Order: sequence, then structure tokens, then C-alpha cells
Amino acid sequence: MIRARITGTGSCMPEKVLTNFDLEKMVETTNDWIVARTGIEERRIIADDENTSDIATRAAERALEMAGVSAAEIDLIVMGTITGDYPWPATACIVQNNIGATNAYAYDLSAACSGFVYALGAASDFIQSGRGKKALVIGAEALSRIVDWTDRNTCVLFGDGAGAVVLESSEDGVSEILSSHLHSDGSYLDLLYQPGFGTKITPSVEGIDERSSFLKMQGNEVFKVAVRSLTDVSLEALDANNLSVEDVSLFIPHQANIRILEATAKRIKLKDEQVYINVQKYGNTSGATIPVAMDEANRAGMLKSGDIILVAAFGGGFTWGSALIRW
Ligand code: ACO
Repeated sequence: MIRARITGTGSCMPEKVLTNFDLEKMVETTNDWIVARTGIEERRIIADDENTSDIATRAAERALEMAGVSAAEIDLIVMGTITGDYPWPATACIVQNNIGATNAYAYDLSAACSGFVYALGAASDFIQSGRGKKALVIGAEALSRIVDWTDRNTCVLFGDGAGAVVLESSEDGVSEILSSHLHSDGSYLDLLYQPGFGTKITPSVEGIDERSSFLKMQGNEVFKVAVRSLTDVSLEALDANNLSVEDVSLFIPHQANIRILEATAKRIKLKDEQVYINVQKYGNTSGATIPVAMDEANRAGMLKSGDIILVAAFGGGFTWGSALIRW
């Protein structure tokens, strides 16, 4: 059976750093509160003249360079994002044009923080089906553009960033995406969403006054479901492959909040050294957290051929999913 494998990773984090101390000057909060409740110390914010497509393009170029694959060889670009440059067309099409992937078809996928894991599943299925041989999977967000910077409940949590991986059909029988597991439950919509501006709340003076274009979240409710879902979907991936928690070389979870990560790791019974954490540097960059963390770990030499890598994410929708990868 044809399987997909990851042959290149890349990321791009904006240069501007926003620290908790900066936030102390913007809303009623403290560095101590943010660190204790979330583990986040700072996050990156894109420049005024930058957009999601710009950082996505740089991440994609770095992944292609590592893979030694030219843009023209790419058959498919799937991008997980909820903060595209425009409501439509897809930001993946902008990236396609920027990098010159003239032979690819490209689309965005909306699964919030699970965007990358969903996109990885879609691209892996694409390669497994034999429809194409090379795909670019991107998770990129500019959440700073939809965060309400007057709401301390949410603005301390999020940041901007982009990560990408190149998938190719596996030839060596070692390195491959073993499985992907995806779930949704639309009944939780109100706990985490952006009310405007879609077809339900169209752009209007009232909509702007009600701050409808900003992300809304009931954090403590999200927290409970996130831990349960991340745990279940991680165990689902291990069970499906007859592997146990000891077989996991590295768990790369969606970086939402250190307490979510620690609670999930404890429930799965993972040791600290099996869990990759960088939430302190970047906060929650939604669909970008996993490919950014994967690229960091890869470039640091932490991912070795044959290693079992577990990724899992949870986000608005609700959506959640995992993938088990043999590196
Ligand atoms: N600074 C100081 N105080 C704050 C801040 C802040 N930035 N934000 C909230 N508070 C206050 C609240 O107003 C509340 O005060 P009150 O008791 O007087 O009403 C108090 O702190 C406690 O608030 P809680 O919401 O109960 O705090 P909690 O311990 O749940 O932490 C947090 C809040 C960090 C949002 C947490 O619930 C969380 O991380 N949830 C997960 C949400 C998440 O990560 N969502 C991202 C998308 S989904 C995903 O990626 C998993």
C-alpha cells in the first residue's frame, strides 16, 4: 500500500515579540497570572504590512528546501487556517502563486486549532489514494488580527506563526504516516468561535459595536473538553497501530496551554521527556502550533528515522484529531 511520509519541515515566526509584561500595559493582567494559568511567557505578532500568506509562504519555502523538492513538483497544497488573508479565495492559492507551485491544486481547510492535523490527514489520504505524489501541508495563522486586545480572558493566549511539511509517497517502508484520526462535534460552537463576519452576522455598525469580528471563548469549558478529547484521540492512534505509550518517541501536541498539555500527558501516562513543549515562546498559534513545533524538533535533531511521533490537536468546532507518524 502507498503511504505518505514527511520529507521536509519549515516554519516562520514573525519577528515582533509581545511579552506578558507588554500585555500588563494593555489589559488588567500580570505576568505571574499568565505564566501560572497558561505557561505562556511571550508570543509573536505579524507586522502591520504582513499577512498570513507571507509567513505561510516562508514556512512552505523552507519545508520545500529541506525536502529538496521544487514547487513545480507539488500536486496539492492544503492549508489549515482560520485567519486567511481574505474570507475567500483560499490563502493556499496565494501561497501557490507566491512559491510557483503551478501544477498544484490548493485549498484552505477550516478546523481551527486542529487545522494542521486535519490537513495532514487530507494530504496523507490524497497520497495514499495514488492521486498525487507530493503535497504541501501548511498550518498558518495571524490570530492577532481577530483577537480582542481589550479582553484579558483571551488576548493573553494567542499568537501568530506558520509551519509547513512536505509529504511524499513513502518508498523506504520505514518513514510513513501510519494513521490519522479525526473528529468533530458541532454542538459546542458557542464555546469557541468568531461570530462575525460571515453570513449570520454580516458587516454592520452594530456588529462592529458588539465586537463581533473578534474571537470569543469560554476558556474553562473548553479546557475540560480539550483534555478529554486530546487524551482519547491520542490513545485511539496508539490502539489503531497496536502500539503502547512507551513506543512514543515524541508527543507533539497542539500548544494551547501548559496545563492542558500536562493534564493530557498525565492521563496518557507520557513522561515529561516524551512531550515537546514550546507554548512559553509562542502561545497558541492555532493550526500552526504542531508544524512549528515539529520543525523546531526536527531541526534540533530530535526526530530520528524510525521514531514514533504522535501529534494531537483540539480546537473550535469542536474539532480534534491525531496522527501517528513513523519518522
Ligand atoms: N489576567 C488576570 N486575570 C484573568 C485573566 C488575565 N489575563 N483572564 C482571566 N482572569 C480572571 C477571570 O476574570 C477570573 O476572575 P474572577 O474569578 O474574578 O471571575 C479568574 O481569572 C479565573 O478565570 P478562569 O477562566 O476560571 O481561569 P482558568 O483557570 O480557567 O484559566 C484560561 C483561564 C487560561 C483561559 C483557561 O481556562 C484555558 O486555557 N482554557 C483553554 C482555552 C484555550 O486554550 N483555548 C484555545 C483554543 S482551544 C485550544 O486550543 C485548546
